[in-house]
Amino acid sequence: MKKDCTTIGIFDSGIGGITVLKEILDLLPGADFLYLGDSARLPYGTKSPKTIVRYSVQCAQFLVSKGIDMLVVACNTASSHAIPELRERLRIPVVGVVESGSKAAIEAGGSRIGVIGTSSTIKSGSYERVLQELKPGVKVFSKACPLFVSLVEEGWCSDSITEQVARRYLEDIIREGVDTLLLGCTHYPLLKGTIARVMGEGVGIVDSARSTARVVSALVDGGRTPRSDQELTFYLSDLSPTFIRLGELFLGKRMDRIHEVDLCE
Ligand code: DGL
Repeated sequence: MKKDCTTIGIFDSGIGGITVLKEILDLLPGADFLYLGDSARLPYGTKSPKTIVRYSVQCAQFLVSKGIDMLVVACNTASSHAIPELRERLRIPVVGVVESGSKAAIEAGGSRIGVIGTSSTIKSGSYERVLQELKPGVKVFSKACPLFVSLVEEGWCSDSITEQVARRYLEDIIREGVDTLLLGCTHYPLLKGTIARVMGEGVGIVDSARSTARVVSALVDGGRTPRSDQELTFYLSDLSPTFIRLGELFLGKRMDRIHEVDLCE
């Protein structure tokens, strides 16, 4: 269904979802964006499904109250647990990252697919489920890599320690002879170089940010022409200098319009 939509709401547990925003901005430079990062309650990746759903509903309700036309759940952990609840509650299109990331892995020709993500994403089995639906019989090998989020947040994206951690996490998946590795976490695209080096040549690295942007773009009619008055507003539930620094690292440019919000009000 095509939707003539100009204001896209995106939320993540923190600023990692800016990797998804960045890709959507590339395809829709003329749309307006409201980004919400629940930085006060990060990480979601270690929380229970019930809590993740509750937080996700609060994030969605906040963005809907600001008048968005479409919701993008950029967080893999929230996408793994909260999409059915959000689709039931909201009257606007809701796009998650699990379906589009899985589709990208299958389209890349994956038949032995490694999936990495937070503990909660991997425990949910969300990627396995969607991959099996898309290509019955596909072999999927999953691994939670919780330290990757902290390493990115420390700014150690291509550090030797990060490479060591990656070798440790990925050794089982490498042993399975995967042809494709699906990055099932918002932070992991920043580690793509290190992960690709560790996986070795011949393994395709798929990231759900780009494929989600394609799904969003296909649902929107306008927004292709850049506009000087484009709205790009950031809301964070905790406004620490670290989050702003990280956000700008993810976005690759300055975040000018930032507001702190209380999602529990
Ligand atoms: N945004 C989360 C995800 O993509 C990673 C960070 C967290 O654990 O909250 O799963």
